Amino acid sequence: MLFDTHAHLDDNRFEDDRQSLLKRLPEQGIGLLMNPGCDLRSSQAACRLAEEHDWIYTAVGSHPDAADDIGDEVLEAYRQMARENPKVKAIGEIGLDYHYEDVPRQQQMVCFRKQMELARELDLPVILHEREAHEDALAILKEFPQVTGVFHCYSGSAEMAKYLVSKGWYIGFTGVITFKNARKLVETAMTIPMDRMVIETDCPYMAPEPYRGRRNDPGYLYRMAEKLAELRGVSPERMQEITMENGKRLYRI
Ligand code: NI
Repeated sequence: MLFDTHAHLDDNRFEDDRQSLLKRLPEQGIGLLMNPGCDLRSSQAACRLAEEHDWIYTAVGSHPDAADDIGDEVLEAYRQMARENPKVKAIGEIGLDYHYEDVPRQQQMVCFRKQMELARELDLPVILHEREAHEDALAILKEFPQVTGVFHCYSGSAEMAKYLVSKGWYIGFTGVITFKNARKLVETAMTIPMDRMVIETDCPYMAPEPYRGRRNDPGYLYRMAEKLAELRGVSPERMQEITMENGKRLYRI
């Protein structure tokens, strides 16, 4: 059984076939799935999905691309959702994205800090989106040593991953691990402890090889388990078990 620790099934690209996909996934070996929010609207949509399906869990939060909407009212809405809904298992996805920089950096940092504070207050793990912002992200994490979670779609060095693991973080592997040019990520996957690896589709983005370029969905997650199994010299079934256990520990399920 597989745990997709990061999927956006509320995305409009699933508008036409969401119901049939949701029906099919358990048959395709998806045992558990975490659907984080990206802003207030998608956090609410994710909560509805989690209420309708016992194998779906959710997180609430504003992505760095939506970091301009994080007023006190939005924060209060996240606080209420996290307190009242037992399916909310994390704050996310939150973080910094200096690649697209849809929102100015200073504002992203304000939004990120507010949500780290919320995670600390509620004692929840966070789902971190960090792209080309390693230094600022690590500096902010140091302000919140009690808060850990997962570096989703990890893109840092093996050395940084080792440091993060020592601080209690998990490392999330998407379909990128199956790409031919994933040298740095392969090094990370081969050197961190196996009990800190989780797998995710980040669908509808990032489809693994040989499906690269298509719309991604959790039905392709087995490829990430296969690739990590090959790199670590265990069977694909064993890697599915390991990443399932890790995901449950990460999100306290
Ligand atoms: Ni995401």
